[in-house]
Amino acid sequence: VNGKIEIPVVVNVLYRTAAENISLTQIQSQIDVLNKDFNALNSDFNQVPTVFSGVKANVGISFVLDAVYRKSTTKTSWGTRDAMKKSNQGGINPTSPTTKLNLWVCTIGGGILGYAQFPGGSSATDGVVIDSKYLGTTGTATAPFNKGRTATHEVGHWMNLRHIWGDATCGSDLVNDTPTHNTANYGLPVFPHYSTCTGTPIEMTMNYMDYTDDAGMYMFSEGQKSRMLAIFASGGSRFSFAQ
Ligand code: ARG
Ligand code: ZN
Ligand code: CA
Repeated sequence: VNGKIEIPVVVNVLYRTAAENISLTQIQSQIDVLNKDFNALNSDFNQVPTVFSGVKANVGISFVLDAVYRKSTTKTSWGTRDAMKKSNQGGINPTSPTTKLNLWVCTIGGGILGYAQFPGGSSATDGVVIDSKYLGTTGTATAPFNKGRTATHEVGHWMNLRHIWGDATCGSDLVNDTPTHNTANYGLPVFPHYSTCTGTPIEMTMNYMDYTDDAGMYMFSEGQKSRMLAIFASGGSRFSFAQ
């Protein structure tokens, strides 16, 4: 790695309606959020409670918009089985997926805001999918998911982060400095929210890898940062992005 990690982002827009053909301004607003959230430059970073001030992290990874591809479609929703990533299913194939983060923007359906592929999967489907109504902070972005945090959360998965509750009751996210959460938190939890898991810690509900509203999430932890940086190190599954 020669210094800072900068990820080129290719945005693939699939639209049926004019509204789904989101503006470049809306796309850039998402890139701006990623750059803030991954560099501790988000305006709500100072809302992290004192109990977590020792572990709140500046991840130090930046993102740059590389290209935008647009394609008209007759599909009303794309689901979560990667059809949007395949031109033979009406989607758009990824561009340079071993060196660029591909983001697909479309209507997913089923109440899904976005989904991501973890490191180690097929490069033909690698990247992140975000519903156009939850991308960025302007245009068609819809409250309470209009602060660009769906992409921050999904890029966290793309960089190997698990949900903070470990997808199980008092489950593990494989990160030591995040408390054990009972389950997912929604909406805007009131601080402090205590876990009923071993030790009854205060839950880190403001972590990007929980399920709160966008306004309720504003930090990664140092342990999450280490887990993300490890995949870009020599021998890591996304080393090709760090060259
Ligand atoms: N995969 C999750 C879902 O679709 C993303 C949740 C993102 N949360 C948020 N506040 N934007 O439900
Ligand atoms: Zn998730
Ligand atoms: Ca943990």
